[in-house]
Amino acid sequence: MSGGTAHLLTALFVAAAMGYQSRRSATDLDATPRTTVTFDELLGIRRFSAHTLNYSTLLLEEDRGILYVGARGAIFALNSSDVADGSHRTIHWEASPEKQMDCLQKGKNNKTECFNHVRFLQRLNSTHLYACGTYAFHPLCASIDANRFTLPSHFEEGKEKCPYDPARGYTGLIVDGGLYTATRYEFRSLPDIRRNLHQRPLKTEESPLHWLNDAEFVASVLVQESKDSPVGDDDKIYYFFMERAGEETTSFFDKNQVARVARVARVCKSDVGGKKILQRKWTSFMKARLVCYIPYYEVLRSICSLDGGGWASTVFYAAFTLSAQWTMEASAVCRYSISSVQHAFEGPYMEYQDSARKWSRYDGAVPEPRPGSCITDHSRRKGYNSSQDLPNSVLDFIKLHPLMFEEVKPASEEPLLVKKSVVYSQLAVDRVRALDGHSYDVLFMGTGDGWIHKAVVVGSGIHIVEEVQVFGDQQPVESLVISHTQRSLYVGAASGILQVPLASCARYASCYDCILARDPYCAWDGRACRAIATADSTGLVQDIQSGNEGCRSSSGRGSLPWKNRTVLQGDDVLLPCDQHSNLARAIWLLNGSEAQGQDRLRVGVDGLLVTDTLPQHSGEYRCYGEERGLRTLLAAYSLTVLPELPRGPTAASRPHAASQAAGDMKVAYVSAIVALVVLCAVLSTVLLYVSCLEKRKGKYVLGEPRPASVELQTVSANCLRKGRREEEEEEEELTYPDGCLRIIPGEAPTAATSPVKELPAAVPPLPPPPPLPAELTNGVGALPNVLRKMNGNSYMLLQQQEEPLASPLYSASFTEELSKILEKRKHTQLVEKLDESSV
Ligand SMILES: *[C@@H]1O[C@H](CO)[C@@H](O)[C@H](O)[C@H]1NC(C)=O
Ligand SMILES: *[C@@H]1O[C@H](CO)[C@@H](O)[C@H](O)[C@H]1NC(C)=O
Ligand SMILES: *[C@@H]1O[C@H](CO)[C@@H](O)[C@H](O)[C@H]1NC(C)=O
Ligand SMILES: *[C@@H]1O[C@H](CO)[C@@H](O)[C@H](O)[C@H]1NC(C)=O
Ligand SMILES: *[C@@H]1O[C@H](CO)[C@@H](O)[C@H](O)[C@H]1NC(C)=O
Ligand SMILES: *[C@@H]1O[C@H](CO)[C@@H](O)[C@H](O)[C@H]1NC(C)=O
Repeated sequence: MSGGTAHLLTALFVAAAMGYQSRRSATDLDATPRTTVTFDELLGIRRFSAHTLNYSTLLLEEDRGILYVGARGAIFALNSSDVADGSHRTIHWEASPEKQMDCLQKGKNNKTECFNHVRFLQRLNSTHLYACGTYAFHPLCASIDANRFTLPSHFEEGKEKCPYDPARGYTGLIVDGGLYTATRYEFRSLPDIRRNLHQRPLKTEESPLHWLNDAEFVASVLVQESKDSPVGDDDKIYYFFMERAGEETTSFFDKNQVARVARVARVCKSDVGGKKILQRKWTSFMKARLVCYIPYYEVLRSICSLDGGGWASTVFYAAFTLSAQWTMEASAVCRYSISSVQHAFEGPYMEYQDSARKWSRYDGAVPEPRPGSCITDHSRRKGYNSSQDLPNSVLDFIKLHPLMFEEVKPASEEPLLVKKSVVYSQLAVDRVRALDGHSYDVLFMGTGDGWIHKAVVVGSGIHIVEEVQVFGDQQPVESLVISHTQRSLYVGAASGILQVPLASCARYASCYDCILARDPYCAWDGRACRAIATADSTGLVQDIQSGNEGCRSSSGRGSLPWKNRTVLQGDDVLLPCDQHSNLARAIWLLNGSEAQGQDRLRVGVDGLLVTDTLPQHSGEYRCYGEERGLRTLLAAYSLTVLPELPRGPTAASRPHAASQAAGDMKVAYVSAIVALVVLCAVLSTVLLYVSCLEKRKGKYVLGEPRPASVELQTVSANCLRKGRREEEEEEEELTYPDGCLRIIPGEAPTAATSPVKELPAAVPPLPPPPPLPAELTNGVGALPNVLRKMNGNSYMLLQQQEEPLASPLYSASFTEELSKILEKRKHTQLVEKLDESSV
């Protein structure tokens, strides 16, 4: 058994043992984005970049209309209504040459690390911002006058506020003038949650127990629990991070393998440390485990929080990815309520038993006031006005019991979403009031390769409205910020800043499309799909809950222009039909009844293929997309299959056919025709290739490609007709009105032109991925968009990068069928056809 498989089985075992087996199947959880928008189909995007990199630290000030951006060696102030309007202001803040030299001498990388990466940027007070940068491994901080927007004349030491390493997990907040940061500041130092810029600076305890074990911080969130608190509670700051798990027995893991777990910790804002014990240390630090889908085998990547009008309704959304033991990529998104976090902190503590060298539940007596809780009215009544008044028994207890026994479980004890082949690197959430009066959480999930998935949370499930490729070159989305006033999402990444509209309702062309999208920002007004924020809500229809009600007409689109297709008997013909939605099923009606079980018809994800046509295949072909019980007409064709080119009658009808001169002429014509046909085929191939190349670039980078074994080109028979025309001008029945499509099989393009070769070259053969847990395999496919949007002009038969997919969406793909057919005919048919057309 391979190591990977063993780990997976262990993971499953752990998951099962701990009761995380999801009640829903993985197919339910694996949502496919309904629509796919590639980079070159994007509209309404604004981009900002200057001559630097790493635009990762964003600070949006809605009321001032400014988006501040901390980048490498610079801070920018952008107009939040249009980041690209050219009015930006810049602070150049580069690391000095001496410090860069030092950095290089420390063995750091002078291409990525020895710069001043601005990692902290927040509002300090009404006039000043506060910023910290890594300054080539000599962190510095500065108060910046926001109006003048220039660097001050002197800087503050940053070594206890900002990590040295630009890639180190780090989070920071300014709360009432105090700077709360968490990271491992320097390589040799221990990770630490610190408070600076405060009369009472505090840090975490390191002895006899480390409160943090090799922690990598992800996020921090202020929850204002003092607001309207009946018990006089304090505001709390929650920290989310990964760390080495000390509490588990090692039985599940190899000796040299460290189990890492996700944690949530918290401290109280009014904590001032202890008097003698825990002096200048937090007295309110507590931590608990955060689990999502497969505990110990998942890595917390991002957190976003939403306070629905009061701290008690705070929810946290968390994105997890699979840990490195897995040889595949997948993400899970979980939601946690503040009450489930509180529940863990109010439960039993864990204790470390030195003798047994392990953590276990502590069942002994707990001193009063409860260790780790904030100072409340109750403790004040007992004379404990601040953490300095706490009795020694409480402080001693805190020192040894930072970890809670209960873990924090996601809402409904299962993830909202598990997605294969995707790495969610960032999350942002918005709460939108829909027309049905309910509020829906809309998640924006940035991926590791430059896409944004937009999803709406409906009950305990999720619907991914769309996936949008916002960066043409693959790069992780590093920050996401939502602006309500601008109705924009700002995206920070290595190459620049993007401003993306929260919704592009106009993309939905019909009422059905608008309703099926289930986008809470959009509704149908009778003529167009519009943003509800800009429209008068009377007469608008929307259906977030079920996504299929409200449109009056019984079909998605009334009528479409018919397209004529004429082919010769024996040809293969592709009738393209582009399903706008990845969730739609293609339905073809032939002469009005559904195409089923017919030998030579193959329904694929983007069209109908009729192979080896016979005259009785002539007729009306209509393509529908069926989704949630609604059918939309997408294409209509009238197909004419001509019997084999009538050789005899043609010859007989030609008075000059017998003439010797004409015969000689014919030979010349035939040569010309053959030449033309070949030229045409080559030209179309090149044209089709060029026209598809851009799209492919966007699409195929989704996974590691393998070279195609066969490429199938649909070549317009117009070329053939042109050739023939010279010969048979008088024959009207051969002048086809609307292009005659036929498929000519051939070898895959050579290396010079192969689009596959354009993709990241030299991809080593991947080791076979470990089989997924049975849970995950069922129908969890990569997106079907690999074959989408080719407009039927050309078929790239790509091998799937995954194991053969059992997905129903794929079962209808042409890939396999066509490969077989083509193998059979490859060497014969092309020749036959040319012969035929040249007669
Ligand atoms: C941002 O741009 C808008 C529209 O172009 C303009 O009205 C506004 O004054 C600008 N704001 C700032 C802060 O420059
Ligand atoms: C980085 O350092 C190397 C020497 O170690 C030097 O050759 C190179 O020019 C430096 N690059 C930059 C951008 O400073
Ligand atoms: C804001 O903070 C800066 C830096 O500490 C200080 O110089 C300035 O006076 C403060 N402004 C206000 C209004 O408090
Ligand atoms: C900055 O951007 C460069 C170029 O994409 C990337 O290689 C590097 O990892 C980034 N650094 C950080 C700290 O994000
Ligand atoms: C706590 O504060 C109250 C009122 O402010 C005061 O009467 C009491 O002496 C204080 N207790 C301690 C232990 O400082
Ligand atoms: C459609 O109807 C036409 C005329 O009625 C018939 O010739 C043809 O074979 C039918 N085609 C199919 C695919 O049933």
